[in-house]
Amino acid sequence: MTESTKIYYFSGTGNSLAIAKNLQSKLKNVELISIPQLMKNPGDIIIEGDVIGFVFPVYFFRVPVVVEELIERTVFGKTTYIFAITNGGGAFCRTLKIFNTQLKGKKTSLNAGFTIGMPGNHPKVYDMIKKTSAEYFAEKNKRIDEISEIILSKKNHHIETNFGLLGFLLSHVLFKKTYNDSKKHLLDSAIRIKESCKQCGTCKKLCPANNIELTSSGPKWHGKCLNCARCFHLCPNEVIELGEDTMPRYINPEVELRELV
Ligand SMILES: Cc1cc2nc3c(=O)[nH]c(=O)nc-3n(C[C@H](O)[C@H](O)[C@H](O)COP(=O)(O)O)c2cc1C
Repeated sequence: MTESTKIYYFSGTGNSLAIAKNLQSKLKNVELISIPQLMKNPGDIIIEGDVIGFVFPVYFFRVPVVVEELIERTVFGKTTYIFAITNGGGAFCRTLKIFNTQLKGKKTSLNAGFTIGMPGNHPKVYDMIKKTSAEYFAEKNKRIDEISEIILSKKNHHIETNFGLLGFLLSHVLFKKTYNDSKKHLLDSAIRIKESCKQCGTCKKLCPANNIELTSSGPKWHGKCLNCARCFHLCPNEVIELGEDTMPRYINPEVELRELV
């Protein structure tokens, strides 16, 4: 029987989706499954198959809440190889170890855990590492080649972390409160709309959590935010603000808007 691969991904601005698509072109018989889309189905989620992958960004030095919620609801059937790739502006810390611990609670675990540096998309903390997007993407392409070879040969690979003791402190101590706050899905409470909002509805259409309603006084967020910052980045008129010092808008160039809807 032909081997199959299922890749479960979560992506706000396309970096994780670009990685998942790159792998799709290198591995065999790959199905890409959007995590927020899957989460809309009620009840248990069954994950089984030959090769299973998870691709997601790092949020607050940990696993995004929606990915944790996916694993909480998942019943794992028979699998032969499980890998995860997390990507972020460079501070991965213990994200994949934390993910693996959650999998162990479900009586399964990672065969391999990889980290890939990508342009940061947090509206306020995006330029800590001075690297151009082109540099990030060149490194990413090299890593995708290495990673896909490891996955194709089903080799075990250590779970990648960084920053040593500081990484431990960032993941488990210093940002634990920020992370727990993000579990309340309330990043959207900081969002402000400029008066020039044309009420075009793009934010509502693109929100992976169906968290945005268009009202007569403009878009309203309803506290189901996944922290993905997509509404901020992809508003065509740049009227969505998250404070004064916000970054230039970003979408991964390998991804088209329609793939995020
Ligand atoms: C709420 C939030 C928190 C973030 N926290 C981290 C972090 O702790 N470490 C890091 O390296 N990048 C962090 N980032 C940057 C993203 O992980 C990074 O830009 C990622 O590539 C975005 O992937 P996406 O385009 O698939 O959403 C954060 C971004 C957001 C929006």
